[in-house]
Amino acid sequence: MAALTLRAALLFIVNLTVGLTLDTILGDRVQFPETEHCSERGAKLQHTLTDESSQTVAHLEDVWKPAYGYEDRMSPNESVILNRSTINDQGLYSVTCGSAVKLIQLNVIISSEKSVTEGEAAGFTFHYFTAGKLERYRVERNKQLVFELDLSSGNTSQGSGFENRTSVAPHWRSDGDLTLTLHGVKPEDRGDYIFHVFKDNKREHVQAVRMRVSPAPNTEDRNPEQITFTPQPPCKEKTALICVSVAAVLLIAVAFYCGQKNPRICGSKVSGGAAAGGAAAGGAAAGGAGTELEMPPYTDTPVPILHK
Ligand SMILES: *[C@@H]1O[C@H](CO)[C@@H](O)[C@H](O)[C@H]1NC(C)=O
Ligand SMILES: *[C@@H]1O[C@H](CO)[C@@H](O)[C@H](O)[C@H]1NC(C)=O
Ligand SMILES: *[C@@H]1O[C@H](CO)[C@@H](O)[C@H](O)[C@H]1NC(C)=O
Ligand SMILES: *[C@@H]1O[C@H](CO)[C@@H](O)[C@H](O)[C@H]1NC(C)=O
Repeated sequence: MAALTLRAALLFIVNLTVGLTLDTILGDRVQFPETEHCSERGAKLQHTLTDESSQTVAHLEDVWKPAYGYEDRMSPNESVILNRSTINDQGLYSVTCGSAVKLIQLNVIISSEKSVTEGEAAGFTFHYFTAGKLERYRVERNKQLVFELDLSSGNTSQGSGFENRTSVAPHWRSDGDLTLTLHGVKPEDRGDYIFHVFKDNKREHVQAVRMRVSPAPNTEDRNPEQITFTPQPPCKEKTALICVSVAAVLLIAVAFYCGQKNPRICGSKVSGGAAAGGAAAGGAAAGGAGTELEMPPYTDTPVPILHK
């Protein structure tokens, strides 16, 4: 009871006075900025664990030094940096610097990864119980606003650079589907997207997606000079396929003919098999040349691509 009250009091203080909340994606580096401004020897960074006990993370001598258990993730430095965050790092931290105590809330968020091709639309799945009184649904990228939806009025706002490119399905209110669509993805859209809902002024259901943007394929298609060259790979593939088929048919034919005419010689002689293989390969080469001549004109393939 006392512990609960203390925790509630601490969280209240965090919300009221410090308000410093750090988000990190699981496995990423975490820097505690407050530690950089402290030069009091004996200063400490402590992590408050779930049982309200605290564990020292680092202390300041001439530089910040890791405490026991943190040496493999932290090097002595001007500020405290954990090279890799784990899920157990989340929670409340206090920086005791002389007589001043600053509180920091660290959220370690498990993210999913997404790779999107430039120019395409990205869909970020997010569902939440929207039947009831809620405040806002907010999406940020690298801490900047991407999209915000006022869940009571339905008003939306979009961050700079994301104007007219974000949307949620119109039926979000009835089915809670707050999946965000980002249209026309650009290379600069890459980064960490954080999704959450505000309820009673607290963030709920925090989710993260790390998005990578890959370049659009065949950007050179727009160059008319190269139109005649682009269809070549599919044609070669076709030829190869036909070659393999022809070779298979020839092999079967040779084997069949052989088996019918001369089962003993064909069955026992290794050289016979090799010869048959050679013949098949020759046939395949001829077949390949033949099919190449019969190939439909190149323009068959590129026309739909050019017009779409
Ligand atoms: C932490 O990361 C820094 C910078 O990448 C590196 O120089 C340092 O050796 C790392 N320290 C530990 C303990 O892994
Ligand atoms: C020391 O901190 C700086 C930033 O404050 C960082 O760039 C550097 O990688 C850190 N070095 C180590 C060894 O962690
Ligand atoms: C929603 O937007 C409309 C028009 O822009 C505005 O009049 C209204 O006050 C907004 N409502 C809220 C709750 O922000
Ligand atoms: C977004 O759309 C509105 C209305 O169609 C338009 O006035 C505005 O210029 C657009 N903004 C951007 C950044 O494209």
